[in-house]
Amino acid sequence: MSRSERSNIWRVKPVDLMLKQGGETEHSLKRTLGLFSITAMGIGAIVGTGIFVLTGVAAAKYAGPGLILSFIVAGIASGLAAICYAEFASSVPIAGSAYTYSYATLGELIAWIIGWDLVLEYAVGAAAVSIGWAGYFTDMLKTLFNITIPQSLTASPFSGGIINLPAVIIILLITALLVIGTSESSSFNNIMVGIKLAVILVFIVIGAFHLNPANWHPFLPFGAGGVFRGASIIFFAYIGFDQISTSAEEARNPSRDLPLGIILSLTICTALYILVTAMLTGMVSYTKLNVASPVSHALILIGLNTAGSIISIGALCGLTTVLLVLLYGQSRIFFSMARDGLLPSFFSRIHPRFKTPYLSSILIGVIVAAVAGLTPIDIVAELTNIGTLTAFVLVSAAVLILRRTQPDLHRGFRVPLVPLIPILSIIASLVLIVSLPLITILRFLIWLVLGLIVYFIYSRHASKLERTAVQ
Ligand code: ALA
Repeated sequence: MSRSERSNIWRVKPVDLMLKQGGETEHSLKRTLGLFSITAMGIGAIVGTGIFVLTGVAAAKYAGPGLILSFIVAGIASGLAAICYAEFASSVPIAGSAYTYSYATLGELIAWIIGWDLVLEYAVGAAAVSIGWAGYFTDMLKTLFNITIPQSLTASPFSGGIINLPAVIIILLITALLVIGTSESSSFNNIMVGIKLAVILVFIVIGAFHLNPANWHPFLPFGAGGVFRGASIIFFAYIGFDQISTSAEEARNPSRDLPLGIILSLTICTALYILVTAMLTGMVSYTKLNVASPVSHALILIGLNTAGSIISIGALCGLTTVLLVLLYGQSRIFFSMARDGLLPSFFSRIHPRFKTPYLSSILIGVIVAAVAGLTPIDIVAELTNIGTLTAFVLVSAAVLILRRTQPDLHRGFRVPLVPLIPILSIIASLVLIVSLPLITILRFLIWLVLGLIVYFIYSRHASKLERTAVQ
C-alpha cells in the first residue's frame, strides 16, 4: 500500500465544492427564518416518542419517580453536545448534517462513520417513533370509536404478535408524502408544534390538580443506577436538535440564531419533560406506566377519558412531525453520501417531476417499515440512542481536534471554555452509552464493523474524491 493510498481515507471534501454542488442541485433558499421559527422547528423535531412513550416504560422498569433526575442527566449530556454541534455546524456554511460537516473538516473515514451512525439516529429512530405512534393510534381507536385491532396486528413477533401494522402503514404514508415532496412550510410546522405543546401543557395543568404526592415514594426504587439506566433510555426524547443546523441557508441571522435556537429549544424541552414526568409519576403509581401510551393511559386511569383521547390526538400530530423530520433527514443524508460516491448513485437519483430523491426515500421507507413492523420499541430506541451518542462523542472530539488543526477556520459560533466543555460532553455521552444494556452495545459494534466493511470494500474506491484524485 503506497503512502497516498494509506492516507486517502483522511481526504477532505473542499467547502467550495460543497457550495458549488449545493447550488447545482438545490434551489437557493430564501433567508426567511427568524429565531422563533428556528426554535419552533427544533421543538417540532425533538418532542415525540421519548416523552409520549418511553417515559412510561423507563419509570416502570428502571427509574421510578427518579426518572425526573434521568431527564436532567440526559438533558445535560444533550446540552453539552448541542453547544459543540453548534460550533461544528457554524464552521461549514452550508445546510447539512454532521456527515457533511465532518467530510469538510475531519476526512472521509470519520465522515463515513458518522454517516453510518446517523442511519441509527434517523432511520432506526423513525422506526421507534412509528411504534410509539402506533401505540397512541390503537389507543385512540379504542377510546374514541370502540374499535379494537387484534394484538397480533399491533405487536411485533418479539412481543407476542405477528406484525405492528399501524407502524408499517404510517411509515409508508409518510414515505409517499416525501416522494411527492411536501413543501416544507414553516407555518404548518408552527401549527403542529403549537398543538403538540398545547396538549403537553394541558397534561401538566390537569396533572397539577390530580397529584398524589404519595406516588413519589419511594423516589428512587431502583437506586442511583436506575437513574442512569433511565437516562440512557429517555435520552431518545432529546434527539433531533441537530435538525436545526440544516436550516443554515434559510436563517436570517444564522451565526446568532442557530446556536441560540438549539439551546433555547433544548431548554424548553427539558423543562417540559421534567414537568410531564413529575405529573405522570405523581398522578399514578410508576408501576402502572409500562404501557404503549402512558400519557393518555394515566389520564384514563384517574377517570379522565375525554382528556385522555384529546392527548392521544395531540400526541399523534406531534409524532407525525417527528417522523417527517427523521425520514426526510435520512433520505437527504443518503442523497449526500451517494452524491459523494460513497453510496450507489441510485440514492441520489432525482424524480423528474417531483424533484425529490425518490428511490432513496422509497428504499428507506420499505426497510424502516419492515423494522418497525417486526421489532419491539426498546431494541430500536436503544440502538438509536447509542448511534446518536456516538455521533455526539465524535462531534465533540471534532471541536477539540479542529481548534488545533484548523485554528483559523471561520467559526460563526465558538464553544466557550474549550477544552472543558467538549471534554465534559464526551464524558457525559460515554456515561450514557455504558449505561445501556450490553446487548445494545454489542449490536452497535456489529453495525459499526459492517459499516467499515462496506467502506473499505466499496465506498473508499467509489468515492468521487478518489476518482478526481486519480484523473
Ligand atoms: N426526540 C424524538 C422523539 O422523542 C426523536 O420522538
